[in-house]
Amino acid sequence: MNVGIIGSGSVGQALTAGFVRHGHAVMVASRDTAKLEQWRESIGSGYRTGDIAETAAFGELLVLAVKGSAAEEALDLATPGSLAGKTILDATNPIADSPPTNGVLHFFTSLEESLMERLQRRFSDANFVKAFSCVGAHLMVNPALESMPSMFICGNDDAAKAEAREILAQFGWDVEDMGAAEAARAIEPLCILWCIPGFLGQRWVHAFKLLKA
Ligand SMILES: NC(=O)c1ccc[n+]([C@@H]2O[C@H](COP(=O)([O-])OP(=O)(O)OC[C@H]3O[C@@H](n4cnc5c(N)ncnc54)[C@H](OP(=O)(O)O)[C@@H]3O)[C@@H](O)[C@H]2O)c1
Repeated sequence: MNVGIIGSGSVGQALTAGFVRHGHAVMVASRDTAKLEQWRESIGSGYRTGDIAETAAFGELLVLAVKGSAAEEALDLATPGSLAGKTILDATNPIADSPPTNGVLHFFTSLEESLMERLQRRFSDANFVKAFSCVGAHLMVNPALESMPSMFICGNDDAAKAEAREILAQFGWDVEDMGAAEAARAIEPLCILWCIPGFLGQRWVHAFKLLKA
């Protein structure tokens, strides 16, 4: 499948490597594509680069991995119509610029409105699925943990969630579907919880698991 990855930070890099490794054709976007060339040393040559418009047009499946506060601005750079009907795996978190308090990140959203709901409303012809947001970039692809971790997803379109489920299974995750877009109000803050052991104790290698009877 052609996968367009919008985002060039540590998430963009980890997921580019993961999709390439799992045999997908990948284009990754940055406003400065020159910096993406440096990844070839670690990832190899199996991906192409482009601007956001080119990458959005290229991807049959898209991944959004930009700074949360820039997410709307980034998607505005896609050519109108190029997001229509596409699944967008949304890894973003609405992290505010102010520093954490006692290891607790600040968000610019509230518990009554998540970033993904905003994006879904604004880019209503795309099908957003929250995914990858509750774990560090270095663990997103086939993490070596004591058991298979849970990835919490949500979104309004069942076919898009089925696509996400397939990718996440490839990437070593047990998928927990939390329902429609509103569930992102609960999923996005898991990032705050995930980061606390890191900020307080430099512990960054863990993931969530939903235990069931
Ligand atoms: N880091 C993690 O471990 C982790 C884990 C889970 C979720 N997340 C979430 O995933 C997202 C990406 O995180 P990250 O750490 O990889 O990177 P980041 O530092 O949060 O963001 C870097 C990306 O944001 C883009 N960006 C910044 N301002 C922009 C603007 N005004 N217009 C368009 N694009 C803009 C940059 O584009 P250019 O290349 O053009 O500069 C770059 O692709 C964030 O929302 C983060 O909260 C991160």
